[in-house]
Amino acid sequence: MCGIIGYTGSRNAAEILINGLEKLEYRGYDSAGIAVFDGDKLNVCKEKGRLENLKILLKKHPVNGNSGIGHTRWATHGAPSKINSHPHTSMNGKISVVHNGIIENYREIKVFLEENGYKFISDTDTEVVPNLIDFYYEGDFLCAVKKAVKQLNGSYALGIICSENKDELIAVRKDSPLIIGIGENENFIASDIPAILSETKKVYFLNDNEFAVLTSSKITVTDFDNNIIEKEIHEVSFSETDAQKGGYEHFMLKEIHEQPKAVNDTLRGRLNSDLNLLLDFINKEFLTTVNKIYIIACGTAYHAGLVGKTVIEKLAKIPVFAELASEFRYNNPLVDKNTLVIAVSQSGETADTLAGVRLAKTMGAKILSISNVVGSTLTRESDYVFYTYAGPEISVASTKAYTTQLTALYLFAVYLAETKNTVLSSELDIVKKDLLSMPKTIENVLKLEEKIKLISNKIFNEKDMYYLGRGLDYAVAMEGSLKLKEISYIHSEAYAGGELKHGPIALIEDNTVVIAISTNKNLSSKMESNIKEVATRGAYTIAFVNEDTNCIHSLCDEIVVLPAKCTLLTPISTVVPLQLLAYYVAKNKGYDIDKPRNLAKSVTVE
Ligand code: M6R
Repeated sequence: MCGIIGYTGSRNAAEILINGLEKLEYRGYDSAGIAVFDGDKLNVCKEKGRLENLKILLKKHPVNGNSGIGHTRWATHGAPSKINSHPHTSMNGKISVVHNGIIENYREIKVFLEENGYKFISDTDTEVVPNLIDFYYEGDFLCAVKKAVKQLNGSYALGIICSENKDELIAVRKDSPLIIGIGENENFIASDIPAILSETKKVYFLNDNEFAVLTSSKITVTDFDNNIIEKEIHEVSFSETDAQKGGYEHFMLKEIHEQPKAVNDTLRGRLNSDLNLLLDFINKEFLTTVNKIYIIACGTAYHAGLVGKTVIEKLAKIPVFAELASEFRYNNPLVDKNTLVIAVSQSGETADTLAGVRLAKTMGAKILSISNVVGSTLTRESDYVFYTYAGPEISVASTKAYTTQLTALYLFAVYLAETKNTVLSSELDIVKKDLLSMPKTIENVLKLEEKIKLISNKIFNEKDMYYLGRGLDYAVAMEGSLKLKEISYIHSEAYAGGELKHGPIALIEDNTVVIAISTNKNLSSKMESNIKEVATRGAYTIAFVNEDTNCIHSLCDEIVVLPAKCTLLTPISTVVPLQLLAYYVAKNKGYDIDKPRNLAKSVTVE
C-alpha cells in the first residue's frame, strides 16, 4: 500500500522521484515525501494528502540533486500527517529512510535509542530505522545498515541514503516487495514495477535479506555475511502505456474492457484449439496423492476461490475448502503432506495470504499460487505457480484479475480431473470448448454497457442494495456486491436465495433495490420464487439472466439478458455486467473510482 522509489544518477532526482510516485498513486496513500541530496545538504520535503500538495511545495522550493528517495505513505503507526510521512531522517540529519511494512519491535528499539540520547519526533515505527543505522555508523554505511537490520523484527522494504555516502543508495527487504531498476549510468529502486517503467525495463527482484548498494554505475547485492549474490536480470514484458488508462476515463473501465484479452492471455499456451491441455507446471505424481485442497485468498480473490471450490469438486472429485486467508490460520486447518493449498492473489503480496501459505508449508502442504505479478513474494514462496497474465491491474477495485483467476481455476480443475481421470473426457471437452469461447462471450456481454448505464442512472441514489443468487450465482453475487460497496460506498450485501426467508427478507421495503442473478436454468424456478417474495414486499428488482434461463421478465422491474448460455463457466461472463453496474453507479455519484476511500491496491499488512 505504501510506495517506494529511489534514484541515483546524473539527472534531477526530485523530478524522477515525483514521476515514479505518480505511477504508484493507485496503491492508495495519505501523504508523500522525498529526500534528495542537494550538494552537501539533505533536502527533505513532505506533505500530507495528495502528491499534488508535494508538487506545489517543490515548485515554491525547488530541490536540485542527483540522488534521493521518495515515498507515498498509507498510515499504520501514527495518523496521516506531514511529520509521520516518509522519508524519516536520523536525529542528526545524516541517514534518511523510506519504509514499507511494519517494524514490530520498534518500541523496544526506541527505548534502547532513547537511552543512548536519541530523540524522536514522529509516532511511526519507521523513525527508529535511520536512528538505529546512525547508532551503528562508524564510517561504513553498508555495515551500519546490516547491523541495524539484524535487530529489526517485522516486515520491511527499505530505501536508505546517507549524507557521508551521497552517491550510494542502499535497499533491503524482508516480507515486503522491492525491485531494482537497471539503467544506463543511473539506477533505481521501487516497490512496484510501474514506478520505474518509463525509465527502464530491466529489473532485479530483491529477495529477503539481500542488501543492494546502488551507485549510478554499479549495483552490488550481498547477504548478511557479505557474500556477493549474482542476480538474474528480468526483462519486464508490459509497456508503460499498458499501465496507463488507454483512452478510458478510469483504469477500472479500461480493465473491465480488457477482460476478453486478459482471459485469452491466461488461456494462451495452456489450452490449444485441439482441446489439448499444455500444462506442466505441477508434479503429476504429487497430484495423484492429493486428497484435500484448501483455497486461501482475500476479497475478490476469495470470491474466485469460492467458484474454484465448486468447479474442482465437481470435476476432480476432491474435497475443497475455500477459506478467507485472514481466518485460515486461526481455524486449525487440517493440513498435511497430502494437502494442496491454492493461494489466489492478484498482487502476490497480500499479507494474510502469505501468512496462510507459510503456516500451510510448515504443516507439510504443497503450495500452488495463482497470481498476476511475476516474481511476487507469493510466487517465490510457492512450490508451483500459475500466472494469470492479466497485465497490470491499476484500479483498486479488481476486475480482470477476478475473471483471469477464475479462468486459471477452471484450467486447473480440468487438468486435475484429466490427471485423476475423474470424469469422461467428453465432459471435459465441453468445459474446454467453453473456455476457448469465453473471450468472445465476454466481448458480447460488454455490449450491454449502455443498458447497464441506464439502469445505474435510476438507482445510484439508493442507500442499500441486495444481491441474490444460488449456486455459482451466489458466489458471483458476492463479488458484484463487493464491487458496488468498494467504489460507490453504497451499503450492499449478497445473500443466497435460500437464506432470504431466514432473516434478510426483513430488510425489504418499498423500493429496496434487489439484484437477482439467475443464470442457471436448473435453479431459475427457485430464483423466481425469491424474486416474487421480494417484489410483493415492494422491492425494485433487477434480474441478470442468461439467454437460456427460464423467462422471468414479467416479474422484474429491469431485466438484463446476457448473450451467454448456462454452463459451468457462467460466473466468468456473469460478473462483467455487475462490474459495469458498480462502475456506472459510482460514476453517477462522482466518486474517485480508481482510488476509493480507505482502500489500497494491495494489503501488505494484516
Ligand atoms: O492482491 P490480492 O488479490 O491478494 O488482493 C486481495 C484483495 O485485497 C483484493 O481482491 C480486494 O478485495 C480488491 N479491492 C477487490 O476489488
